Amino acid sequence: MKKMMIAALSTGLLVSASFGAQAAPAKAATCVGCHGADGNSVVPNFPKLAGQHASYLEKQLKDFRDGFRKDATMQPFAKGLTDAEIKELADFYAAQAPK
Ligand code: HEC
Repeated sequence: MKKMMIAALSTGLLVSASFGAQAAPAKAATCVGCHGADGNSVVPNFPKLAGQHASYLEKQLKDFRDGFRKDATMQPFAKGLTDAEIKELADFYAAQAPK
């Protein structure tokens, strides 16, 4: 039991340690078209996500999902996301360099 917990813990550490070098989270595939691969969107009406604070991005995504922030274009893409997926997306875009 103790061994299992240690194994689980070190896996978690490995995952977070290698995160910076990893590709975008799976869910980001649906965001690319509008926000760019690294969150630097080129269309003026699509906000840049790169380099924004993770806590801000997380709140905006939850607000879109839960209907507190309304936008007909963006809301459908936030709808199906879990809290964990939102956190992963927020951390990813926050870690990208704004251009
Ligand atoms: C079809 C285009 C489109 C797609 C796809 C899309 N978005 Fe958006 N997104 C927008 C638009 C437009 C806005 C600005 C909405 C507004 O004016 O309130 C926005 C706003 C946002 C914001 C708020 C940014 C800020 O500065 O307040 C976040 C965060 C965000 N999108 C994340 C995502 C993520 C994550 C995905 C993929 C799961 C995604 N978007 C997919 C168009 C899109």
